[in-house]
Amino acid sequence: MSDRQRGSDRPRGSDDEGGVLRVGVLASGRGSNFAAIAEAAATGRLAARPVVLVADRASAGVLGIARAHGIAAVVVEPREHPTREAFDKALIAELVERRVDLVCLAGFMRVLGPAFVQHFRGRLLNIHPALLPAFPGLHAQRQALAHGVKVAGATVHFVDEGVDTGPIVLQAAVPVLDDDTEEALSARILREEHRLYPEAIGLFAAGRLRIDGRRVRIAPPPGTP
Ligand code: GRF
Repeated sequence: MSDRQRGSDRPRGSDDEGGVLRVGVLASGRGSNFAAIAEAAATGRLAARPVVLVADRASAGVLGIARAHGIAAVVVEPREHPTREAFDKALIAELVERRVDLVCLAGFMRVLGPAFVQHFRGRLLNIHPALLPAFPGLHAQRQALAHGVKVAGATVHFVDEGVDTGPIVLQAAVPVLDDDTEEALSARILREEHRLYPEAIGLFAAGRLRIDGRRVRIAPPPGTP
């Protein structure tokens, strides 16, 4: 993995454990993407280790999934912090303390401030239920149906200061059917999300991602002629 990917201020840690990438996940809700990541890691399909799950509310279902996997589950609530900057700082502190190499947003319902993005630049991923740059922001599947698109999908991207605007790592497309409801389309996209996110993390862990302006270059697997 290049220094650029991990960042020059990368805390020590992964090397102590045979180089396994330490992943921190931020989530707010039910946590099916977190579950997909945790299961892929637990079954050896993903060569990375989720070391902490941070939720922004104590009632988030995702906390129980983390505990069931024996992964540290932490709550950092905005109301406990006087400003957004202080909240972001508390999040950074949790992730640094756990010596996280990569941060994955998985249904985290807050826009992170510039200090957070700057701290983890190049090692901060998000998953979005649309084929970006179409339909950023909330209710992407509803937006897709309202627009009448025939193809929808999911995107894993690096996070920059914008909302769902960072360089795209992987995308997967699904058809939009004539009789689709928001729920049916969301479920079809979600199946792809659960495949796509572990795959993207695996590429990052293998050092195969290089950000080149707006584009993310994916190197071939090692040993490829
Ligand atoms: C997913 O659709 C993800 O793309 C979006 O938020 C949703 C989170 O779902 N960012 P879950 O909590 O992972 O089940």
